[in-house]
Amino acid sequence: MCEARFRDKIVLVTGGAQGLGEAICKRFADEGAVVLVGDINEDGAKATAENIANEFGVKTLGIKMNVTDDFEVHSIMEMVEKDFGRLDVLVSNAGILKAHAIEEFPVSEWRMVMEVNLLGYMICAKHACQIMMKQKSGNIVQINSKSGKKGSFRNSAYAASKFGGVGLTQSLALEMAPYGVRVNSVCPGNLLEGTLWQNSLFKQYSETQGISIDDVKKKYMDQVPLGRSCTYDDITNVVTFLASDQASYMTGQAINVTGGQEMH
Ligand SMILES: NC(=O)c1ccc[n+]([C@@H]2O[C@H](COP(=O)([O-])OP(=O)(O)OC[C@H]3O[C@@H](n4cnc5c(N)ncnc54)[C@H](O)[C@@H]3O)[C@@H](O)[C@H]2O)c1
Repeated sequence: MCEARFRDKIVLVTGGAQGLGEAICKRFADEGAVVLVGDINEDGAKATAENIANEFGVKTLGIKMNVTDDFEVHSIMEMVEKDFGRLDVLVSNAGILKAHAIEEFPVSEWRMVMEVNLLGYMICAKHACQIMMKQKSGNIVQINSKSGKKGSFRNSAYAASKFGGVGLTQSLALEMAPYGVRVNSVCPGNLLEGTLWQNSLFKQYSETQGISIDDVKKKYMDQVPLGRSCTYDDITNVVTFLASDQASYMTGQAINVTGGQEMH
C-alpha cells in the first residue's frame, strides 16, 4: 500500500467501472479509502468494486448511477450520507465523446455529450455539495481534458462540454470556499493506451479525419513535447494530490497533465 492519505475517507468516483475511473478507484483504495464505484454500467461497477475490495482489502460498493438522472443521483447521495455518514471526495469522471464535423453533427449526439459531461458533473456536484456544506469539508475533483482549454478538431461537443466544466469548477469553488470545500479539475492529455482510445477514439478519429489508425496515433503522439502518451498513473497522482490536504490552498484550478501539450 502507498502512503494512506485517505484511510477510511469516503470517496465516490463516477464512471468508475472501467478506464481512468477504475484506475482512480484503485489509487484511492491503495491509499486506504472506502471506495464507492458509481457507473451507468451496473455489472461493471459491481465487478470493479468487488475486484478492488479483494485486491486492496478495503470496503467498496458498486452502484448503478446514471450521472444525468437527478433523481437517481439524489437517492444515491442520501444513501451515502445515511450508510457511510459522510462524503469526503467526489471524483466526477464519467464522460463520453462523440466526434463529428459540425455540418454533420446530429443534435441528439451533441446534446448527449453535453448532458453527460457537463450537466452530469453539475448534478453530482450539486448533491455532493449539499452533504459537504453540512460537514464543512470535502473535495470535488472533476476529470476534464486538454479539450477544456483548447478547441478540438471536429470534436465540438466534447470541447464545449469540457470548457463548460472549467467554468462550473471555478464557480463552485467560489460558492464552496466559505464551507471549506475545495473544487478543482484535472485536464489529462491523450491516454492512448486506455479504454476510450482503444475501444472508440482511434476508430472515430480515423473516420472523421480520413486518416489511418496508425496516422491518428502518430498525429497525437507528435503533439506531445514530452514525447509519450499520458498514463493512468500520471492522472491519479494529481487527482489524489488535489483531494489531499497537501493541496489545501488550491481551489478553482484546472490542472493540465498533458506532457507539455497544453500550457494555459
Ligand atoms: N481517455 C482519454 O484520453 C481522456 C483524455 C482526457 C480526458 N478524459 C476524460 O476521462 C474521463 C474517463 O474517460 P475514460 O477514458 O476512462 O473513458 P471510458 O469510456 O473508458 O470510461 C467512461 C466510463 O463512464 C461511464 N459512463 C458513461 N456515461 C455515464 C453516465 N451517464 N453515468 C455514469 N457513468 C457513465 C461508462 O460506463 C464508463 O465506465 C472522461 O471524463 C473523459 O472525458 C479521457
